[in-house]
Amino acid sequence: MRPMSGEEYIHLYIVFLIILSNDVSCTHQASSGGDKLLLVLLDGLRYDLFNADMPNLKQIGIDGVKANMTIPPFPTISIPSTYTIATGLYTESHGVVNNNYYDLETGIILDYEHTCNASEWFDTGAEPIWVSANFSGLTSGTYMYPGGSVEIKGVRPNKDVANTEWRWYNLPFKKRIDDVVTWFRDDDLDLVLLYHAQLDTMLHDTGMESSETMDMISEIDDGLAYLLDELNEYNLLEDMNIIITSDHGHTTPGDVIRVWDCISENDVDFWIPLNGAVGYLNPKLEKREEVSKISKSKPMIILDVFTLISLAQAKRSKSLSRTKKTLSTGYETMSKI
Ligand SMILES: *[C@@H]1O[C@H](CO)[C@@H](O)[C@H](O)[C@H]1NC(C)=O
Ligand SMILES: *[C@@H]1O[C@H](CO)[C@@H](O)[C@H](O)[C@H]1NC(C)=O
Ligand SMILES: *[C@@H]1O[C@H](CO)[C@@H](O)[C@H](O)[C@H]1NC(C)=O
Repeated sequence: MRPMSGEEYIHLYIVFLIILSNDVSCTHQASSGGDKLLLVLLDGLRYDLFNADMPNLKQIGIDGVKANMTIPPFPTISIPSTYTIATGLYTESHGVVNNNYYDLETGIILDYEHTCNASEWFDTGAEPIWVSANFSGLTSGTYMYPGGSVEIKGVRPNKDVANTEWRWYNLPFKKRIDDVVTWFRDDDLDLVLLYHAQLDTMLHDTGMESSETMDMISEIDDGLAYLLDELNEYNLLEDMNIIITSDHGHTTPGDVIRVWDCISENDVDFWIPLNGAVGYLNPKLEKREEVSKISKSKPMIILDVFTLISLAQAKRSKSLSRTKKTLSTGYETMSKI
């Protein structure tokens, strides 16, 4: 059962990062034949991040059409937002409310990778664009795109590469581009969604200004030039529409409220910390009023029964120091290739 009902449960949403909106750049070329579409989703790329450092993306914006920004849905975390982009629906309508599958009744929480494989988390009645493509007799591929490797409405994309943690850290952007170009060239796919998450991880881990972040931005920007070259080389560019967008931005947290300084862990029977914008707490039935009072006494934003509060810094540092190692390993692997 999915915990969709706001009346039944009080969730406390924890703000970890205040997410700003994202920029969208697209090239839209007049098509002379089959209209193919490639969506490149660069996780965490804030609208103003690339102004100085992404000359190729900037040029794509100049040659094509560029929106000033997009406004992500709430919560501004990756999977709800990428599913909004794929379905055109807000989170409450597509139902994919979190990066982690959870079930309040059974207490089951799945990690990111298992969540990506859980068909029931995505097959909610909403229709992602690759399923719509199929219903229109078109072919599609998803490359690590959340929801792209499970059956939805009885359909899977014609090609998919699953979003595994190993690939997340180890697959260079250029390799992903090679694969996607091959799908267009050899399999003649009509639609491909290419997802790239490393920048987001780097931003969470090292911040907005770090040299690691800047290197990642350069790598992505080089990759985009490579993408255009490859498409051009195989005469695919002319019939290709390319949308480059993001799911949310980032900002450096300011004042932090330590959740576990305000609320006792004993008063909560279910909580999901996230390495992202929002976490969820479900206070014990008899503690709801009390927890709600505490949250109201703090500078927190109250949305109906949903409450937004800042994530416990202690929890955050713990998970960051753990991921840092994994990340630098992943990054070294990438920069060597
Ligand atoms: C987009 O940005 C340009 C340049 O800053 C500005 O002139 C324009 O009004 C903006 N458009 C919207 C819809 O915000
Ligand atoms: C998810 O499925 C893919 C194949 O589609 C597999 O490679 C991957 O290991 C699975 N992940 C988990 C956590 O089971
Ligand atoms: C649509 O999906 C069904 C089920 O996966 C598949 O059999 C069919 O070949 C797909 N259609 C196209 C055009 O690829």
